[in-house]
Amino acid sequence: MLFETGDEVPPGLLAGETLADVAARARRCRACPLYADNTQTVFGHGPPDARLMLIGEAPGEQEDRQGIPFVGPAGQLLDQALAEAGLARERLYVTNIVKHRPWVLQGTRRKNRPPRVSEIRACRPWLDAELALLRPQIVLCLGAPAAREILGKEFKLTQQRGQWFQTPQVPHVLATLHPAYVLIQPPESLEAARATLFADIAEVARRYRALAL
Ligand code: URA
Repeated sequence: MLFETGDEVPPGLLAGETLADVAARARRCRACPLYADNTQTVFGHGPPDARLMLIGEAPGEQEDRQGIPFVGPAGQLLDQALAEAGLARERLYVTNIVKHRPWVLQGTRRKNRPPRVSEIRACRPWLDAELALLRPQIVLCLGAPAAREILGKEFKLTQQRGQWFQTPQVPHVLATLHPAYVLIQPPESLEAARATLFADIAEVARRYRALAL
């Protein structure tokens, strides 16, 4: 359902479009209410020939301001893990399952909240367009919501993270902890969670090199 008439942007890929075309149209998306109270659409970012795609959940405050995924605190942790694994972020494509920031008012402050199922559904055609145009060899899902979008509703992050899967669309898929989840761990579990995230990203880097991507 569209929330405004007269300027309707059908979500998803149209015949003949490039990634830049799709990104430009996504900036005018009105397929869910999230566009209304945010700065901008945060579409995926990275070269259109990237072979490795990272998929997170939704933009946060910094991402909403800058228009680029994973540039806030979670992005900084992600960057550290990528650097340690020897993966150059500028060669990767980084995106989210929802492309506007979901937030809730707490007092006078906007606090991030998980995207609703309806928001994920409304935004899915944009993710499908990114997958169809990039055709990544490897997808790294950051957190359970992204993993469930790619690997199915039954996916259990606690039991299945760090393992390789294949889908009809993507030959190599691995899911790991969301960096923002790592950052909110209490002191006694922070180091273990961080080590898990870093080890999973190192595993992705090994596969990336083994496939000579
Ligand atoms: N968390 C996400 O899932 N995506 C971002 O872009 C930033 C934080």
